[in-house]
Amino acid sequence: RQAEAAAGPLAGRKVVVTAGGTVERIDPVRYISNDSSGKMGFALARAAQAMGAEVTLVAARTDEAPPQNPGIKVIRVQSAQEMYEAVTGVWDGCDMLIKAAAVADYRPKEAAPSKLKKSGDTMTLELIKTKDILETLGSTKQQQLLIGFAAETGGAEAYAREKLARKNCDLIVANDVGTPGAGFGLDTNIVSIYDKDGLVLELPLLSKDEVAKQLLTLAVKRLPGAE
Ligand code: CTP
Ligand code: CA
Repeated sequence: RQAEAAAGPLAGRKVVVTAGGTVERIDPVRYISNDSSGKMGFALARAAQAMGAEVTLVAARTDEAPPQNPGIKVIRVQSAQEMYEAVTGVWDGCDMLIKAAAVADYRPKEAAPSKLKKSGDTMTLELIKTKDILETLGSTKQQQLLIGFAAETGGAEAYAREKLARKNCDLIVANDVGTPGAGFGLDTNIVSIYDKDGLVLELPLLSKDEVAKQLLTLAVKRLPGAE
């Protein structure tokens, strides 16, 4: 039996979603990461697939396993550099890319090949900047709709709008991770969505599944060729 053609507002569209927190190795048993659970990205991947898209999910470290769905192709990565390579590899042919992942800004300059031994009373780890994936995508954007996230603890709007401009995004999703009910690890989120002209949609406390649906419904209307 032939697979049924996908229906829905994203039918025939390729959507890339990134999720989770990158893992930057210090040595074989230690790393630097962050509190991202991957839940927002997974919700976006599921919602995009349900709307008919062909989805690629680039997932770093996440609390749960990625969704298992024939319509969602999962690429597992660890570091910001691996995420950069995976994402730039699928960027050219996609219609929409949503960067929900929390990417490390710095990584250890050297990952030690074997487990570090303790010695002195203090230790210094030298870190160097990672590539800004979203900024790279923004600078090479063609037809793709590019959507960033900005997790902030206060002053969300100003930071989010500055990031949208700097990274040449079409939309940016600001969440104040300092507010109860919003952000890392939870099943709910409180977000505001901005474009270059300002606030587009301010959502109340909602499940991440509902936030994903609302964001995608708004994004669909901004795809080239949408009526
Ligand atoms: N991002 C990225 N590559 C990085 C850092 C961030 O692609 N090396 C993306 C994130 O996936 C997110 C957006 O940029 O979609 C905003 O990330 P955020 O950490 O809020 O912004 P930064 O530019 O890193 O600024 P800062 O951490 O100083 O607030
Ligand atoms: Ca950052």
